[in-house]
Amino acid sequence: MAAPTGNSTVRTDLPTVSLSTAQPLTAKADVLVLGIRGDQEREGVADALDLLGFSGKDDEIVVFPAGDRASAGVVVAVALPAEPTASDLRAAAARGVRRAPKGSVAVALHPASIEDTVAIAEGVRLGRYRFTAYQTSSSEDASGPAEHVVLSSFARQSAAGRAVEEAEAVTDAVAQARDWVNTPPGDLRPPTFADAISALTADVTGSAVKVEVWDEKRLAKERCGGILAVGRGSETPPRLVTLSYAPRGAKQHLALVGKGITFDSGGLSIKTGPGMATMKIDMAGAAAVVTATLAIAKLGLPIKVTAYACLAENMPSGTATRPGDVLTMRNGSTVEVLNTDAEGRLVLGDGLALATETTPDLIVDVATLTGACVVALGERTSGILGSDDATIDRLASASGTAGEPMWPLPIPTEITAAVKTSKIADLRQHNPKPYGGTLFAAAFLREFVGDVPWAHLDIAGPSFNDGAPYGEIPNGGTGVAVRTLVQLARDLTA
Ligand code: BES
Ligand code: ZN
Ligand code: MN
Repeated sequence: MAAPTGNSTVRTDLPTVSLSTAQPLTAKADVLVLGIRGDQEREGVADALDLLGFSGKDDEIVVFPAGDRASAGVVVAVALPAEPTASDLRAAAARGVRRAPKGSVAVALHPASIEDTVAIAEGVRLGRYRFTAYQTSSSEDASGPAEHVVLSSFARQSAAGRAVEEAEAVTDAVAQARDWVNTPPGDLRPPTFADAISALTADVTGSAVKVEVWDEKRLAKERCGGILAVGRGSETPPRLVTLSYAPRGAKQHLALVGKGITFDSGGLSIKTGPGMATMKIDMAGAAAVVTATLAIAKLGLPIKVTAYACLAENMPSGTATRPGDVLTMRNGSTVEVLNTDAEGRLVLGDGLALATETTPDLIVDVATLTGACVVALGERTSGILGSDDATIDRLASASGTAGEPMWPLPIPTEITAAVKTSKIADLRQHNPKPYGGTLFAAAFLREFVGDVPWAHLDIAGPSFNDGAPYGEIPNGGTGVAVRTLVQLARDLTA
């Protein structure tokens, strides 16, 4: 019984990044990560690149000893497109530092703006992320974190320095979200996750963000029938954690709701073995809304943010919710449960209802909600659904600026109608037809937001990378949606 190692408060440190106006070939560092954009940027290293057959295409990367070509000992040459975007630079910086041998690193990707400079700094930090908490012999450099310098002609501008400091707060939040997703499910159950959120909030923001934790008794008193129903089969009871950041002078109120299923076995509608192998990730939405809220507070953005993390463990047992059971949700509506593996919409329904009661200007929920979304959009693109096109566009724009691929999906009227076809309750939780699972789930969620503008991010695919690292994305938890949510808060306050 109980937690195997008790590692619920893992916190991975990312390296600090400084800026310099130094020139690539004379920068003082052990390793030079050098962006190569066509022929003009081969000067000084062209002979080595030719010898290595470097074409400069796609994601090409080569590592060679600098000899007398540069002050650094080793050059990591990274191919760049002719006109790299901020996303290209973020990804290239991450790939470059991942290939860098030990020692201090100078990153020379020729940023054309402060925005580019920040993207490179983000890439350096995110590319250095490693989850080693459960490895007894870590391959980490024992001599402490190495220095990372981003070379930029904007280095002396105070705006660039400030922007890079802000990027540190955001990337720290991403790393924390990744840590929580990566933590084994036996070590991060609803009560321990709630404690970890409370501890981090006090640590990161002092009293700027208030935390309130509802235990199972309080959840019952507050009529949160969805969260309770999902948590009923587990030995560890559910929790609802509410974070409130309310800076003076805030003119808008953003509510965030996160799916926090610390393990999704499917419940009595149990998953297959392979189907539940990675289901520790099912709290990635809660991790994203919590860490994004703390980052927004740390940045001091002038917007009120309330985050609801809906935490439960979905387990089969003699006390578990059965297919056929009818629940009464926080907003008073009754729901016929037909598949206990469609649990996310039940915990989110209560979280959305609570958010709606405060009539915020905008609600965004984040959830690893449906396998169908991975079928529709692949593993690297999140779905955006919502109450109206303007709200969906807001999220699409924030995700584009943040460099996190997300794409709109509709909530058609016939699917909205299907949610109301239960013969016994107000709503049915599960679609009788096997089509449009993502749309049905969103149509169900929409029943809980009333007239408040609302968007739903389905991150089932992008929350976890079970393959090799790519760009700034490591293996394992990705921290997806954190950057988009912070960008959204920035857009709303711009
Ligand atoms: N947590 C899963 C969705 C999921 C699947 C996330 C794959 C990440 C990767 C969710 O609770 C679930 O089980 N959804 C079901 C819904 C179905 C029963 C209507 C699904 O997608 O199969
Ligand atoms: Zn789930
Ligand atoms: Mn499920």
